[in-house]
Amino acid sequence: MRTKIFVAAVGAVMALGLAACSGGGAGAGSGSGSTGGSSAAAGGLIGVAMPTQTSERWINDGKAVKDGLEKAGYTVDLEYAGDDIPTQQQQIDQMITKGAKLLIVASIDGTALANQLQSAADKGIKVISYDRLIRDSANVDFYVTFDNYKVGVQQATSLLVGLGILNADGSAGKATGPFNIELFAGSLDDNNAKFFFDGAIDTLKPYMDKGTLVVKSGQTSIEQAATLRWSQETAQKRMEDLLTSTYSKGDKVQGVLSPFDGISRGIITALQNAGYGPTIAQGLPIVTGQDAEIASVKLINDGVQFATIFKDTRKLADQAVTSASAFMAGKTPEANDTKSYNNGVKVVPSFLLQSDIVYKDNIKSLLIDSGYYTEAEVKAGQAG
Ligand code: BGC
Repeated sequence: MRTKIFVAAVGAVMALGLAACSGGGAGAGSGSGSTGGSSAAAGGLIGVAMPTQTSERWINDGKAVKDGLEKAGYTVDLEYAGDDIPTQQQQIDQMITKGAKLLIVASIDGTALANQLQSAADKGIKVISYDRLIRDSANVDFYVTFDNYKVGVQQATSLLVGLGILNADGSAGKATGPFNIELFAGSLDDNNAKFFFDGAIDTLKPYMDKGTLVVKSGQTSIEQAATLRWSQETAQKRMEDLLTSTYSKGDKVQGVLSPFDGISRGIITALQNAGYGPTIAQGLPIVTGQDAEIASVKLINDGVQFATIFKDTRKLADQAVTSASAFMAGKTPEANDTKSYNNGVKVVPSFLLQSDIVYKDNIKSLLIDSGYYTEAEVKAGQAG
């Protein structure tokens, strides 16, 4: 998961940088101890604030961004906030105090960083919003992310394919339903959650209107479907509650829209504990996902989870590094979308990447052939 290109001159700078930080490194929570050294003068310090290490995608993102920036000659302070908002605020404050020249931030609560971003702006520090849009602040200079609405469309599409309403090529399938489904959304303080849900609902609505899909609990609003902090346990509990409240009299649920693999695994556990499955072939409902986390890719390979969405974190990290390097050189990074992401104060120029639906039969072409995972990792359900 590493960029292979290594420019010689940059390599020399990096070697110096590594020598200066050896022993400490710029690891999570280490504070990196790398300011003020000769290396910082070479490329400058960049602060990278990530939300949590409980989900493997953010670990991969953090590592890829740090590696890429170091290869480009910068010193990196990478911090994880344990999904705690005050911790993330403090970490960003400290990055500014340590002399960061630029910040790359994947927020926990997108509305909670306006003060930090104001301090950054006062010092001329550029801010790149990473994956999640920081809201309610004029001081967000750029946004690198995926086409989040389309991710939602893909999640709903995979549900329709799993139920047999659509074929994987998008043509109409044979199944006509009606099918009972339930809907899960992400954390409401994450701007992405709304984009995913909107994309999914716009795709499912025609089938809900026709009665092909029935949300039997009646819980169709994002507020009802939301999962605070994208928590697996919270999702498991809500699924257990839905099974008790809505499906205890013999009705069966046949599909569940899930916006994230951790949530999917909570849902699957609740379903299996209630006697469904354990596999799709044995009656487990179709459950969707996102992030192609290794534990879920194994479940897909084993016929338990139906699908996930692959967002190549290597590409997002590369894009963040490219955009950061542009700002550091006094230039403006190239955007490919200047309309979609209004953060409540302004439309933030964005670079959007594309995602893919992962089914059992394309795990190899999407994830193994691209070097994202090895076959052994998929079999084991564990990376590394
Ligand atoms: C990201 C998703 C991730 C979710 C939970 C969202 O902001 O875009 O990729 O599944 O957060 O970590």
